[in-house]
Amino acid sequence: MTKVDGQVVFLNGTEVAPGDVVDIEVVFSKKKFAEGRVLRVVSKSVIRQEPFCAHFGVCGGCKWQHIPYTLQKDQKTRQVHDQLVRIGHLPVTEIQPIVGSEKTTFYRNKLEFTFSASRWLTPEEVNSETEYNQNVLGFHVPRRFDKVFPIEHCHLQPDPSNAIRLFLRDYAHASEWPFYDHVAHEGFFRNVMIRTTTTQQVMVVIQFARPIQDQIDSTCQALLDAFPNITSLNYFVNSKRNDSYQDLEPICFHGKPYIEEVMEGLTFRIGVKSFYQTNPEQAFELYKITRDLAEIKSTDLVYDLYTGTGTIANFVAKQARQVIGVEYVPEAIEDAKINSEINQITNTLFFAGDMKKVLDTEFIERHGRPDVLITDPPRAGMDKEVIEVIRQAQPHRIVYVSCNAATQARDLALLIDEYHIDTVQPVDMFPHTHHVENVVRLTRK
Ligand SMILES: C[S@@+](CC[C@H](N)C(=O)[O-])C[C@H]1O[C@@H](n2cnc3c(N)ncnc32)[C@H](O)[C@@H]1O
Repeated sequence: MTKVDGQVVFLNGTEVAPGDVVDIEVVFSKKKFAEGRVLRVVSKSVIRQEPFCAHFGVCGGCKWQHIPYTLQKDQKTRQVHDQLVRIGHLPVTEIQPIVGSEKTTFYRNKLEFTFSASRWLTPEEVNSETEYNQNVLGFHVPRRFDKVFPIEHCHLQPDPSNAIRLFLRDYAHASEWPFYDHVAHEGFFRNVMIRTTTTQQVMVVIQFARPIQDQIDSTCQALLDAFPNITSLNYFVNSKRNDSYQDLEPICFHGKPYIEEVMEGLTFRIGVKSFYQTNPEQAFELYKITRDLAEIKSTDLVYDLYTGTGTIANFVAKQARQVIGVEYVPEAIEDAKINSEINQITNTLFFAGDMKKVLDTEFIERHGRPDVLITDPPRAGMDKEVIEVIRQAQPHRIVYVSCNAATQARDLALLIDEYHIDTVQPVDMFPHTHHVENVVRLTRK
């Protein structure tokens, strides 16, 4: 982002750094902001560092890797300050120093790669004499559903992620079966998801476009022979136009249909379709911060809204009298219950449904007023109706975990007549990206 004659201009395409001098072309202009395209970097900022990845500039993954991590963290803290204080005008007296991620590469536990018969070519590749094979396995180019660029080495996920992807790429090239064509909706090899854990368990989920059983079996078997340490090998047959698998049934080819992550002695079971925080080490830090700020007593009833697979609910259960988790996705609630069961946690209750339908005054009367309420909504934040029920329920403390400080600020504005904002704690879950998690504690006036 930059400013031209006082107007904010968002820049697309070439990655820029604070202090760069660039020529831009404005491609779109409105009263409040404009969008521009970088034509040429005239001089590079002194703060720039050398990007570590060969795919920098094409890939949408680690867009800030040319900016030192300390400056990335400063920028994320500024983002939180801007949303809560400068734009949101909230009564915030202090923002705690951001908690950085110890790992800044290989911190993700889940990646999805796409097979495609339509390779993305960079301008240099277009202008070269080389004939490139159109069949690739890699990431979609940002904003292009049909184009994929090949990944040689990705710095986001630890071993054996890269090795598994390269093996499948070579296997698919050597086979007679085609890579998927997203425009013609034809082909066989479609997509692969790889999940790693701190327990060394590995899950692979392959999507095939057609139910050709012999070829599915021989692909899975070849992968397993090459990587006998895969503990959960699954596949989908997806003949739909879109890549989403939430409405499909996974088939387990080898091992268990889930993997397990361990946090502070608690085991969390992660199925093929389950959500789990993608930076597990930093998720542990985030949950500890949430639990510390919640200051739960053994007599407390705790609500954990937007509980997902019940990770926070189960994580804080030992401190509380009872924890109630509410979440939209029924499968996630099933996982949450299993996670309580396998950890011998008996003081949790989980409910599935849309928050604004489930959490009403009748629900509060039936289950009791929460002493402490933890909420971790999606990027869109909470519905007004949900905030109104929270106000009526009058918990002593609210801990609001958010991945979008803008919607968090909007929601906090509806609570500050009855609550003090007493702690603001940003946490960086995703180094080299603009994303920042922010935890706010509110105490009742
Ligand atoms: C940011 S995630 C939080 C996950 C969980 N706290 C964790 O740390 O793993 C937000 C969750 O809200 C759920 N969700 C989104 N919209 C919802 C709604 N309207 N009602 C209930 N849950 C919803 C999503 O399915 C997702 O699991």
